[in-house]
Amino acid sequence: MAMANFLALFLLMELIAGGYRDGANGLSMNYYVFSCPFAEPIVRNTVASALQSDPTLAAGLSGGPVYDIPKGRKDGRRSKIEDTFTAPAPSFNASELVRAFGQRGFSARDMVALSGAHTLGVARCSSFKNRLGDPTMDSDFSKTLSKTCSGGDNAEQPFDMTRNNFDNSYFQALQRKSGLLFSDQTLYSDPRTKSIADGYAKNQATFFLDFQQAMVKMSLLDVKEGSKGEVRSDCRRIN
Ligand code: HEM
Ligand SMILES: *[C@@H]1O[C@H](CO)[C@@H](O)[C@H](O)[C@H]1NC(C)=O
Repeated sequence: MAMANFLALFLLMELIAGGYRDGANGLSMNYYVFSCPFAEPIVRNTVASALQSDPTLAAGLSGGPVYDIPKGRKDGRRSKIEDTFTAPAPSFNASELVRAFGQRGFSARDMVALSGAHTLGVARCSSFKNRLGDPTMDSDFSKTLSKTCSGGDNAEQPFDMTRNNFDNSYFQALQRKSGLLFSDQTLYSDPRTKSIADGYAKNQATFFLDFQQAMVKMSLLDVKEGSKGEVRSDCRRIN
């Protein structure tokens, strides 16, 4: 009975709020309310316990914008390595990044904000070793990278000083000539993107707002409708 009330309440909310926001692409903010009402709490709990049990993430991911995205994307029915070759490369300069993201409908501002995802995590030496000895890089940072790479191609280097915190320190690193990938630091060499990066370095709230808007935009890319998509029974395989 409690469950029935719970669903009835959500049905009402779906009609009031969802009705306006649902796109023509089958996605909806409330997609799982009927199909799998506990999907979101399950994901939240699974992520929380994975973070707890991973010693490298002992502190857990922290900070960052909290936002809702349209849900209900289907899995693709094609999975080919060659489809990944068109992804932007870490060797891309600012103009190439602006063009590559522009082809997908993103502005330069969206692209810089999304690059701020590099506030989390690491890159392996193989992704930045071509930059070792770059005289335009901060000299202490350059030494750090050489030291990391003495551990081999798979040795990991955090993108910024707070790899588990979603913050704007990635953009502050660019200001100090301590961007990890060429595609990171290049955002600070083109005047069009430099002013955006400076803005995010100064005002974290602006970064968060632009980031969440760009993520919603990304969630609407290339949605597979009808028979073009499927719900995989094994996420690693096409049904
Ligand atoms: C602007 C173009 C981008 C390029 C050229 C790029 C390239 C890369 C490369 C080379 C790595 C390191 C891979 C490795 O060495 O293992 C990386 C890591 C990462 N990228 Fe990007 N990326 C881009 C945009 C994005 C976007 C838009 C997001 C998400 C919104 C993102 C999220 C991440 C995260 C979270 C990591 C860290 C993964 C980990 O710690 O294992 N990147 N990226
Ligand atoms: C960026 O890369 C493209 C393609 O390699 C090149 O034509 C262009 O001159 C580069 N731009 C800058 C500012 O280096």
